Amino acid sequence: MHTVIDQINALKKEQGAVILAHTYQSPEIQKTADFVGDSYAMAVYASKLTGYQKAIVCGVRFMAETVKLLAPELEVVLPEPSAGCPMAEQIAPERVRAFKAEHPDIAVAAYVNTTAALKAECDVCVTSSSALKIIRALPQEKILFIPDQNLGAYVRDMVPEKEILLWDGYCPIHSRITEEDVLRARAEHPDAAVAMHPECRPEALRHADVIGSTKEIIDFMKAADRPVIVATERNVYDKLAPELPDKVFYQLCPEKLVCADMKKVTPELVLRALSGGGERMEPTPEVAAGARRALDNMLKYGG
Ligand code: 13P
Ligand code: SF4
Repeated sequence: MHTVIDQINALKKEQGAVILAHTYQSPEIQKTADFVGDSYAMAVYASKLTGYQKAIVCGVRFMAETVKLLAPELEVVLPEPSAGCPMAEQIAPERVRAFKAEHPDIAVAAYVNTTAALKAECDVCVTSSSALKIIRALPQEKILFIPDQNLGAYVRDMVPEKEILLWDGYCPIHSRITEEDVLRARAEHPDAAVAMHPECRPEALRHADVIGSTKEIIDFMKAADRPVIVATERNVYDKLAPELPDKVFYQLCPEKLVCADMKKVTPELVLRALSGGGERMEPTPEVAAGARRALDNMLKYGG
């Protein structure tokens, strides 16, 4: 009797498929993956893929779209079509097109958590790990940062030499964390460092010892010489805590920091995606050309 994992591995080989998984995916999904990383690392990996026919992207829709845009010759499949990032849908592309028409001198930087159609209206994409470097490197002095007001405010604080305008989008998961949540955890564990994702609100981020992407938080947890309070989606904690039993980690607000969309992909759905299920990413040529330009700029300025 072959397990689902055995069947995935056999089909992967047979079909020349590669599996990419975001760090928020469950530990079982991460075990099936050829590559696990944050949004930026996934994009860089996708841009260098050769020798495969198919990519299964375990994450949310914008991640699968990004892989397709950067590796257009591959068949790219999202195992669960309803897995989306609510923040990615918070702006209609027409609104950005209208803004650009009125303000041609302002660069529009899109968090990679956006739809391909929205990226196509923007000058450059950024991720949480690359935003500071990219915004500093842009030739324009004035930048509209979309859609995440929290990541945007963090970038604005860290890059005061640029004038950064914010949109009003947000991650519905990370923005649940309040300043009181962080202060309470600090009081309960006074010897612990607080590691937070920049999608959290500014008033909560003020109390962080380190602010970073999922990969930066994971690196911090691995290197930490004291306990760490982890303030990002709880799969990061769930994967690392059993792997590093000698270290002490506390998950901040475990009931709040759950991204239901990230949890939708299961090994069974990955198997189905390898057998013709799931959704193929098929951007129109115009959207693909525009969004690819913004992603290429991300890799150029972020590399
Ligand atoms: P990373 O850029 O850290 O991968 O984050 C993506 C994301 O969706 C965080 O909520
Ligand atoms: Fe989107 Fe937030 Fe989920 Fe990340 S955690 S995929 S930003 S909803």
